[in-house]
Formats: sequence, structure tokens, C-alpha cells
Amino acid sequence: METTLNPARHRALQRYEDRTPTSRALHEKACRIVPGGVSRNTLAFEPYPFATAEAAGAHLTDVDGNTYLDLVNNFTSLPHGHGHVPTLEAATAELRRSSAVGTAHVLEAEYAAELRRRIPAMETLHFTTTGSEAVGLAVRVARAHTGRVRVLKFEGGFHGSHNEVTQDIATRAPLAPGTAVPARPASAGLEPTTTVTGVYNDPASVHTAFARWGDEIAVVVLEPFLGNAGLITAEQPFVDAIFTAARAAGALVLVDEIQALRARVGGAHMTWDHTPDLVTVGKIMGGGFPLAAFGGRAAAMATLTGADRVIQTGTFTATPPSLAAGRAAMDLFGADVYDELDRRTGRLRAGLRSALADAGLPGYVSGLGSMFNLAMSAEPVTSYRALRSADVELLADIRLELLNRGFLIMPRGTGCLSTAVTDDDVDRFLSAVGESIRVVVATSPHSQEASC
Ligand SMILES: Cc1ncc(COP(=O)(O)O)c(C=O)c1O
Repeated sequence: METTLNPARHRALQRYEDRTPTSRALHEKACRIVPGGVSRNTLAFEPYPFATAEAAGAHLTDVDGNTYLDLVNNFTSLPHGHGHVPTLEAATAELRRSSAVGTAHVLEAEYAAELRRRIPAMETLHFTTTGSEAVGLAVRVARAHTGRVRVLKFEGGFHGSHNEVTQDIATRAPLAPGTAVPARPASAGLEPTTTVTGVYNDPASVHTAFARWGDEIAVVVLEPFLGNAGLITAEQPFVDAIFTAARAAGALVLVDEIQALRARVGGAHMTWDHTPDLVTVGKIMGGGFPLAAFGGRAAAMATLTGADRVIQTGTFTATPPSLAAGRAAMDLFGADVYDELDRRTGRLRAGLRSALADAGLPGYVSGLGSMFNLAMSAEPVTSYRALRSADVELLADIRLELLNRGFLIMPRGTGCLSTAVTDDDVDRFLSAVGESIRVVVATSPHSQEASC
């Protein structure tokens, strides 16, 4: 453990380590064979992530027997929490028939039709195993359809691990307003791309990108809210600028709803006046199983067929258990469920604001539908620049206190509710937030400065 940490953080980390000795031993063992101890970067946090032994409903139990209210939900992908019986029964019934087949399967077109009913912009669609594959293939389709190669994305936007979009995800120095630049890789080992990065929620940046590269841009990749960065929501003038510029230049617009499908039935774009050319979905639509999809205008998706086509492969694409689980989970995730979760999460968001106000701590709470995000910032976090100036140390202190009380949110301050989370769970979470903030304010020299 670092000895330069403030004493309050040091004590909180010590409490975490005291509660999780088996997780620590497992982590040390894993690090000898799995660099970093886990295969997904997002799961790693200091001093080490606890290991789950079992999950049920809204709760996780770790290998030391501690329980946590799970507001991470496998990074927003579990609509009904863990062990949802109708989803498991549907998946198990299929599993008994076949776990995976190298043939066509009846469930594929059936679930595709249900997705199109919810998301009319997906005139036709293909399934994939992951969201990363869905985005990568949608970009390929856009390139094949337009005969161009450039992608325009926005800083802070996370769209999976495909090369073209693994760019400018968490840059420390935000772009200047009104600018758009050749993208900067967000990972070592990436080959150079032609991607351009613009400023989220900044119509002037969109104009700059199109003025400079308009006749080269194949597709604009847009997330309705920055799921990886403060849940900053796309404002209408920004959305209008993208669709207007793309239409005028002959570029396509890909709306990445992989997380935002949690916002409302059919995805967050359903309230816009514009219809996306391409849409990607994933996470909750798999019901907790590996499944995602991309689709859009039939004319563009037609590039997936014919002699000179976009090639899609994938041994475990759209396995029958995943299709069955996704369909069963989403059949129980209709408009009424969205409304109920929005109400419950809205109460949670309001409670977070009250807890901050009671402690006199500046903070900004955002979120849509069943999602929430806490950023320790006195100014509204409506831009990536504002998010970057938020106090991440203060957030880390609060999150660690919550973890020690049995509440799991993402290190970046984001959480989400599954249908397994009750109003009582929300109340218990809010009271733990109040206690955590009080402890942090009282003991952290850092936060005492911040609250003065
Ligand atoms: C908006 C968005 N797009 C794409 C992805 C990539 O999906 P996957 O992790 O399934 O590859 C994610 C994952 O978090 C995401 O949030």
C-alpha cells in the first residue's frame, strides 16, 4: 500500500483489505498468470478487486462472505440482476437442446423482429457476441456503403475495443471548444487510424470536422450519453448539428445505444427528430448473456450480402441460449418497467443531490432511465472538459467508504439499477451515501479543503 496516501484513505483501504483477505490472496495468485489479475481493465481498482463467489438478485457475495448491493450490474448489462428465473429458464431450455450450432436457428429472426419492433431504425440487423464487434462491423458497413473511410467520434466516448474507436476515450487534456483533430490512440499497440475526434456537445466542433473532412467522413459515431464519462447527455443542438452536417455531406450517423438502451424503450434516440442510419445495441438486450447487434437502413445493411460484401464471422455469434435469454429478459422489460426503474432511479438521483447539499459538498448528479452518475464538481458536468476538472480523489474516497459498507458502484461514479433493486435497497444505499460523505468530509484533509 502507498504510504503517501492521506490518512483517511489509508484507513479505508486498510479496512477493505481486512475484510477481503481471500480476494487479496486470489488476486496475488492471479497476477502471476493473468497480467493485472483480471482480463478486463475496467474491473481493476486499487488495491485489488474483490472476487465474487456468488450472485443472486441485486446482491453479490465475495469469497470472504461479504455481501454488496450490486449497482454495477456487470457494467450495466444485467436488466434483472443475477439469477433472474424467467431468463435462466429460457436459456436453460435452449441449452438442453444445443449450446451452439453451426447452422441457422429459428430464434435468430424471431428476436431480430422483436428488436426491430422496439427500434424501427433497425430495418434489418445482424447479431454479434459483443458490443465491440457490433460497432466495428457497423463502421465497416458504413464504409462499404459510402465508399469512404474516416470515422468521426467524440472525446470521452467509449465504443468498445475496435481500432477506429479506441481513440480519445479518457484524454487528460480536453480539446479546445470548436476544434476537431486527428484522433489520438487510447491504447498502446494500436495502428494509426483515420479517425477524427470532436468535442461532445459542441456544434461548432462538428462544423469544424465537416468543414475540414466532410467529403471523407463515412460515419459519425455518437452515443446518446457518454456512458463512460459522467453520463453527459447529448444536447439537442449538438444532435441537430451532427445529423444536418452528415446528411449534407453524405455521411452516415451511427447511434451507439449499447448502454443507452437502458434510457427508454428503443434507446435514447427515440425522442430525437432524426432517425439514425445505423444503431448498435448490446448489454441488457442479451439478458446477461453474450449478445449484441447492429442494424439500420436496409440499403446500408445490404452491404452484408452479395459478392463484394462486408464479411462477418464469429463462432459463438447468436448462440441459441443467448438469443433465448435476451428475448426472455427483454419481454419482461417493457415500457412499464422502464417507467418504474426511471422513477426508482430518479429518487436515488434526488437523494444523492440531497446528501451532497446536506454535507455542503459540491457535486453533480446526472443520469437517464435506470442510470446515475456522481461527479464531484461544483459546475454542471455537461461537457467532457467539465468532467475532467471534477475531483476524482474525493469521489474515490466516497466510493471506497461505500464499498466498505457493502455498496458497489463503478470507480468512475456510475451506477445502475436492475429490476431486482427495491425501494428499500435505494433507501439503504442513500443512507450509506450520507454516512460515507460525512466520514469523508470529517476525515479527509482533501475534502475539508474542497468543502470550505
Ligand atoms: C457505448 C458502448 N459501446 C460499445 C461497448 C462495447 O461493448 P462490449 O463490452 O460488449 O464489447 C460498450 C461497453 O461498455 C459501450 O458502453
